[in-house]
Amino acid sequence: MFHFIRTNRVERGDSAEGSDMADEKTCRLALVGFGPVGRSFAEILAQRGEVLRSRYGVRLLITAAVDRTGSAVDRNGLDPARLVAAKREGTVARYPVAGREAMSGVEALAASDADIVLEATPVSLTDGEPGVSFVRAALTAGRHVVMANKGPLVFAYAELAELARAHRVALKFSATLGGSLPTYNIAARDLAGCTIERVEAVLNSTSHYILSRMNMGEPYATALAEAQRLEIAERDPRLDVEGWDAANKLVILANSALDTPAVLADVAVTGITHLTAADLPLTLLATADRTSSGYQLAVRPVRLPEEHPLAKLPPLSMGIVFHTDLIGPLTVTVDERGPRPTAAAMLRDVLEIGGR
Ligand SMILES: NC(=O)c1ccc[n+]([C@@H]2O[C@H](COP(=O)([O-])OP(=O)(O)OC[C@H]3O[C@@H](n4cnc5c(N)ncnc54)[C@H](OP(=O)(O)O)[C@@H]3O)[C@@H](O)[C@H]2O)c1
Repeated sequence: MFHFIRTNRVERGDSAEGSDMADEKTCRLALVGFGPVGRSFAEILAQRGEVLRSRYGVRLLITAAVDRTGSAVDRNGLDPARLVAAKREGTVARYPVAGREAMSGVEALAASDADIVLEATPVSLTDGEPGVSFVRAALTAGRHVVMANKGPLVFAYAELAELARAHRVALKFSATLGGSLPTYNIAARDLAGCTIERVEAVLNSTSHYILSRMNMGEPYATALAEAQRLEIAERDPRLDVEGWDAANKLVILANSALDTPAVLADVAVTGITHLTAADLPLTLLATADRTSSGYQLAVRPVRLPEEHPLAKLPPLSMGIVFHTDLIGPLTVTVDERGPRPTAAAMLRDVLEIGGR
């Protein structure tokens, strides 16, 4: 996929802080969704905005933040630490002066003058909303989009990619394919020129954690309860343990990096809820196998040979192996805890769009 950068939306040299800053850009960001991921993104900017500014020559300004209660908007920039503090009190709409109860995301986007919209609302497997509408509105208004929410891509990949092309803006989503695991970037950029024969991946850390404990002898219910206690698993864990989260990621990977138009129904999905001790040890593996007409997609528990690069993947890790013709197998793994690495993945997309 080609990404188009609208440099005219990024203001150059608007700083009066001396010649070092003459080539500096300002990049306005709207955060739609201010849960753990949106909040972590704001925290990262609060902690290292100045470092990023000198390293990448870009002043990243949050000009809007949106949650279900309302929004905070200031075209001149919101203070990220104060945004986090306002959310701690319940909603970004508590932000002093700039906070607006009941201001919708679409209204906030229009008022934000954002160059890049960061979409981090909850995933929906029914219709991809509210994410699809936010992303559509942002792209149509000529804004770049960086996503953590998989839903819109699973439901409307082709439409959104076409909208981005038509409006000559970037649509980036590396955070949707395993948080900080650099899945898309490797497939699309680092393996350029190779043929990817097979992909094998552990893309859902919740089910991998539970299955790892089951492999050590714990029953499913005990392993799930421990994952819930550690807040690795949701109260309703079905999306993860029935394999749908991994299938979502596989669909996005197929559409974006494997040039294979796919929907969820194209993935053969088997979860981990039915397994007994006699089946173990197993790993929940997402696979894409090249065929004469694209890739065959599956998510299922499999027994990996001991020497397989993902066989000893630690319980809180994710990993991917690309089997290619020119490079051979290439494996990447990540040990990811909490939302911060996903926020960091959004940041890398933002810097690719807005950095020098
Ligand atoms: N957490 C992770 O480690 C992780 C990793 C990879 C990908 N992701 C994906 O990243 C996305 C965000 O994750 P999260 O953990 O931050 O999710 P979350 O806890 O569900 O937070 C979602 C945020 O979106 C807001 N929201 C919901 N509906 C909205 C609407 N109609 N208009 C405006 N705002 C709305 C929520 O508002 P309220 O705060 O008012 O409820 C909340 O601030 C999800 O799609 C998730 O699947 C998360």
